[in-house]
Amino acid sequence: NEVAKESLRSPICCIMGHVDTGKTKLLDCIRGTNVQEGEAGGITQQIGATYFPAENIRERTKELRPDAKLKVPGLLVIDTPGHESFSNLRSRGSNLCDIAILVVDIMHGLEPQTIESLNLLRKRNTEFIVALNKVDRLYGWKTCKNAPIEKALALQSKDVVIEFNMRLTQVITQFKEQGLNTEIYYKNKEMGDTFSIVPTSAISGEGIPDLLLYLVMWSQKTMVEKLTFVDKVQCTVLEVKVIPGHGTTIDVVLVNGVLHEGDQIVACGSQGPIITTVRSLLTRHPMKELRVKGTYQHHREVKAAQCIKITAQGLEHAVAGTSLHVIGPDVDVGTPMCFLKEI
Ligand code: GTP
Ligand code: MG
Ligand code: NA
Repeated sequence: NEVAKESLRSPICCIMGHVDTGKTKLLDCIRGTNVQEGEAGGITQQIGATYFPAENIRERTKELRPDAKLKVPGLLVIDTPGHESFSNLRSRGSNLCDIAILVVDIMHGLEPQTIESLNLLRKRNTEFIVALNKVDRLYGWKTCKNAPIEKALALQSKDVVIEFNMRLTQVITQFKEQGLNTEIYYKNKEMGDTFSIVPTSAISGEGIPDLLLYLVMWSQKTMVEKLTFVDKVQCTVLEVKVIPGHGTTIDVVLVNGVLHEGDQIVACGSQGPIITTVRSLLTRHPMKELRVKGTYQHHREVKAAQCIKITAQGLEHAVAGTSLHVIGPDVDVGTPMCFLKEI
């Protein structure tokens, strides 16, 4: 109903997994962009963020479930690197999110950073969906662009289906060895105890409707309390960056609450708390990746959940991974504050 829609914030979804399983490519496929090909060596080296409005998700999932009711305003997806040297960024991403996508390459099965990611998610009891990606690499796969996965599988030859089932069974066994029950999502009768697998292709888009719809429906059904919008600002610094014309800026994920231009904020600095005033609030356009060059939208205020670039004075020593606070009218700024809690 309308009331529920007003009061739910967008879920924050982190995409994790071993290097080159197709995390960025999956997001490219949903956005209609080409971010992955612009990356140095095809390797993600920073945390990314993209906002997907509900209208776009609706459009992408209507063939699968024309009558599905989306109650959340959108989905904020955090892209993380899979390379082994970036475990701090995976940890930062997993600490922020409400739900996650764990990407597994169907040709490779579980790999070291799949297991590392899995353990990060388990540590915080975060729900996740497995995207079993690169199904188009099965020998003889017939492309069925952007189709729901059951429809795409129904069009495959017997040999393709046999190879698919064999690889799926291997992956389920590998998860079992990690102490986890998994099942292909449309056969999963015990959602919550058994984790769902959605087969996908980031190149031809099969299974993307299923992945998006599952993420949204699952989070709005089971996480109402967590996703209920509250006024209290909850905000984490993702990156500290120098931007020509803006000086040192911070990219933050606003998990809850509203930020305004002119708000007095406290950030954690390596040399003590930084107290400053928000000069401007900038976001990328919907469906655009934060870490890619492009234009910004300016806002007087931004409501959670959203990823925002904040410009303000004195951010040079801000520390990524820490939380940011807004000083209300009744707070004595002179009070010693201990916000330095790296996540
Ligand atoms: P890192 O961020 O560096 O960990 O990698 P990633 O998981 O984001 O993978 P990325 O999107 O960089 O894709 C790695 C390679 O796999 C690229 O060459 C992609 O084109 C290719 N790839 C990704 N998804 C698919 C897919 O579904 N099918 C096929 N055939 N290739 C894919
Ligand atoms: Mg990537
Ligand atoms: Na890559």
